[in-house]
Amino acid sequence: MMRLGWLLVLVWPLVAAAQKPDGAAIASANKQATAAGMEILAAGGNAFDAAVAISAALSVVEPESSGLGGGGFFLLHRNDGSATFIDAREKAPLAASRDMYLKADGTADRDKSVNGALAAAIPGLPAALVVVSKKYGRLPLSESLRPAVALAQKGFLWSEKNAAMMGWRAEKLAASSPARKIFLPGGKPPAVGARIRNPDIARVLQALGKDGHKSFYTGRFAQQLVDGVRAAGGIWTIEDLNQYRVVERQPLRFAYRDQEILTSPPPSSGGIALVALFNILAGYDLATMERAGQVHLMVEAMRRVYRDRAVYLGDPDFVDVPLEMLSSPFYAAGLRASIRTDKATPSTMLPGVTVASETTDTTHFSIIDADGNIAAVTQTVNLPYGNAVMVAGTGFMLNNEMDDFSVKPGVPNAFGLIGDDANAIEPGKRPLSSMTPTILIGKDRVAALGAPGGSRIITQVFLGLTSILAGSTATEVVTQPRFHHQFEPDQISIEPGALSEVEQAELIARGSKVAPAERPWGNMQVVIWNRVDGSVEAASDPRWKNVGAGSTSEGSIYR
Ligand code: GLY
Repeated sequence: MMRLGWLLVLVWPLVAAAQKPDGAAIASANKQATAAGMEILAAGGNAFDAAVAISAALSVVEPESSGLGGGGFFLLHRNDGSATFIDAREKAPLAASRDMYLKADGTADRDKSVNGALAAAIPGLPAALVVVSKKYGRLPLSESLRPAVALAQKGFLWSEKNAAMMGWRAEKLAASSPARKIFLPGGKPPAVGARIRNPDIARVLQALGKDGHKSFYTGRFAQQLVDGVRAAGGIWTIEDLNQYRVVERQPLRFAYRDQEILTSPPPSSGGIALVALFNILAGYDLATMERAGQVHLMVEAMRRVYRDRAVYLGDPDFVDVPLEMLSSPFYAAGLRASIRTDKATPSTMLPGVTVASETTDTTHFSIIDADGNIAAVTQTVNLPYGNAVMVAGTGFMLNNEMDDFSVKPGVPNAFGLIGDDANAIEPGKRPLSSMTPTILIGKDRVAALGAPGGSRIITQVFLGLTSILAGSTATEVVTQPRFHHQFEPDQISIEPGALSEVEQAELIARGSKVAPAERPWGNMQVVIWNRVDGSVEAASDPRWKNVGAGSTSEGSIYR
């Protein structure tokens, strides 16, 4: 087990403020899921019960993003200052092998790692719901799952987001008859606003509430899953499901000025990247610089941390991740020394690898309850509607998380991310993730944030955190236009409005390629508790119409 870098030791015991928030705040990507969380808070549950309710509800109402067939990371912070990170990342099946997605000629068969049963890793989300509820919640699991069961039985409303993502995936999904029956009724996608019932997932959730972990991972249901996956060409065995457990890990903690940041350890690549970004940028007085100069330095820092992601990061239970080095200010100083303020470093000058992005999905939600407990949760089935396969009688999509491994060193995955040996496929290993649920504990403000977006999650969370640290409101944080660099492709992606023409010209003059994005990205969900006046704020990303933000202090109004 590696030790954390000494930067991470610059942390004082978390002080539980005597004062409590004047209400609870939830931000999720779907108002039906936010309502499920509010219902559980009203029933006496805490933020962690609400997290279970929202996670399960999202499995029903946002099948494109996450679900019982996928995994996720739960970063939980109790009002006594203790914190944990529940790693419910999917695991490679025991029959998986390093070259399983290589064709006879040695090239990568990306279709197999993305579409169909062979792309599915062993799901972790059901196991997380049980552990979070039992260890951290106040209510029985069956009660926290009740709103999700009701959504599945009575039907949920098909959203614009469900529809947009289906537009991208319908052709593949149509090949799975159980999925087609629920999500392509009459052979075509439902109209926005249509009510979609899913009694199969309701039954799976009810069994989970009654019998816990074993209802999913052992016995008849587990065998049904294995048989379904194998019949569709997959390699799962009953041992894969029997042996699955979440791993509780220490969150990464680091200090920024007088504030503490808790974030995601490996197999997330996001937390250590945040530490390194802040370390590199600590050597500059960004506040005194003009915007193009600031963006240039942030981009140079992004370039370097994404290179390190590709080279060093993988499942810490399988590879020795050099966390101490990557989090060290001395290491950051070395990286900083290679940065010129007047010139972009071509990525080819740094050893490493990559390419372009496909449509991605994943989902994040953030909660602060009225006692000051906090949950930041990001969960996923990887690409929209996962691998496009549903096993009959289950009601959930399977993930295609095997594509988050480095299927071949240097060959980019769906997010254009490359990897090396550290993230190579091994039986029982967790693929590297970019999911980065993060919590800020400041003297004056406490916040939880995160986002979907594959490789762009890390830079979104970095920009979001920077904005919160600068005093922005939750709405300002989720609204600000974004920019992104991930080492390869060697370009700065920008959303409309992120940089003026003049600023773009200044970056181009330094040698950067500036690539305006065809569409905005992300779906950030932020909650903030102002400890000075007790107020809470929740904001959902306007890019998907701000659908799931609300707080009890404002009467559970969803913006
Ligand atoms: N599947 C996206 C991620 O975990 O980064």
